[in-house]
Amino acid sequence: MWTLKTMSTFSTAVFLLLLTPSSATPPPPFKKIYAFGDSYTDTGNTKSGTGPRAFTYVSNLPYGRTFFHRPTNRYSDGRLVIDFVAESLSLPYLPPYLNRNADTSAGINYAVAGSTAIRHAFFVKNNLTLILTPQSLQTQLNWFNKTLKGKKCKNAVLSPAECEAVFRDALVWVGEIGANDYAYSVGSTVRSGTILRRAVRSVTEFVEVLLNKGAKYVVVQGLPTTGCLTLAMYLSPETDRDDIGCVATVNNQSYIHNTLLQTNIQNLRRKYPKSIIVYADYWNAYRSIVKNAPKLGFHELYKTCCGSSGGSYNFDLLGTCGSSSASSCKNPSQYINWDGVHLTEGMYKILSDLFLKGAFTHPPFESLLRSKQNAA
Ligand SMILES: *[C@@H]1O[C@H](CO)[C@@H](O)[C@H](O)[C@H]1NC(C)=O
Ligand SMILES: *[C@@H]1O[C@H](CO)[C@@H](O)[C@H](O)[C@H]1NC(C)=O
Ligand SMILES: *[C@@H]1O[C@H](CO)[C@@H](O)[C@H](O)[C@H]1NC(C)=O
Repeated sequence: MWTLKTMSTFSTAVFLLLLTPSSATPPPPFKKIYAFGDSYTDTGNTKSGTGPRAFTYVSNLPYGRTFFHRPTNRYSDGRLVIDFVAESLSLPYLPPYLNRNADTSAGINYAVAGSTAIRHAFFVKNNLTLILTPQSLQTQLNWFNKTLKGKKCKNAVLSPAECEAVFRDALVWVGEIGANDYAYSVGSTVRSGTILRRAVRSVTEFVEVLLNKGAKYVVVQGLPTTGCLTLAMYLSPETDRDDIGCVATVNNQSYIHNTLLQTNIQNLRRKYPKSIIVYADYWNAYRSIVKNAPKLGFHELYKTCCGSSGGSYNFDLLGTCGSSSASSCKNPSQYINWDGVHLTEGMYKILSDLFLKGAFTHPPFESLLRSKQNAA
């Protein structure tokens, strides 16, 4: 028998042992993230001179001024949505795929600025290459395939055992992609309906390749309200405006794109019932922020924080952010738009809250987390 004294010492120790794990917050459900997308998600696969021609100064300050206090080749003053996603899962910021020396144990970011959804050859065939970098979802899949090859998971067989290890604790984040496809074909003879069909098909096929490899937890972002971006406002007639003051035809185009994409995602859910595919509604999230801007602390909805020329947009294609003629505003967090096309950290923070904790993911991101926790 235990004496009372040893008993109490012992039981205190046991009690503490039992208490500690259960009272601590549960471990983060994901051990890594694989991210894809364009400049909205790129954490450094592009550098000055290698990205989209009009936004080529990403390696210069004031890019990065807010949080990192140095340029990190992110197209913003600070963190992107994918950075806040990593933070919320207690994971380090994702290293870009092209940084060969990075620690990739918590995931890799394949997103690359300027990337299109449709493969590069399409744009070459239609002579749309002058303003285009050769990156597309195809590039990113090629990079991802190389990663998987090292892990013996390379065939498109549904959930092969070798691939299961790759995806079991991984969140797959397919960031907004397709906005560049439309942007690159403006003013060309290629019809927007052609871009629409091909871009949505490319994204859908891309997601399906990942599901075929065994991806289990996937988030797919739709297109934002691209008609609210400074560049779209700057290029369009003032008569082309919608109820929130953005370019009506452009917002309409991204809306239709998203509708088609969601139909395809619904079909993928039926075809891959063991995977969870969350749609992140960038279009409505952005729209709700514009509508509630003053409450959220945004004073400028359409004007860039970083640019040149002043005026109502502070935007000039020949003096974009990071160039010698541009400068940035005092309080980036009061601006939605950073450089004409990309958003401020303040905007990305609120967007990420709406995706991760709010009502703009379907099914809710929190339910994906719960499924993962229950499966663990
Ligand atoms: C692309 O340019 C080439 C050479 O100028 C021309 O022959 C061809 O017809 C063009 N293609 C399209 C789709 O405009
Ligand atoms: C990547 O691998 C998959 C098979 O898992 C294949 O279907 C796809 O074509 C490959 N893509 C590229 C770009 O290499
Ligand atoms: C949006 O697109 C739909 C379908 O093509 C069309 O009926 C509608 O008039 C468009 N609205 C605007 C504002 O362009």
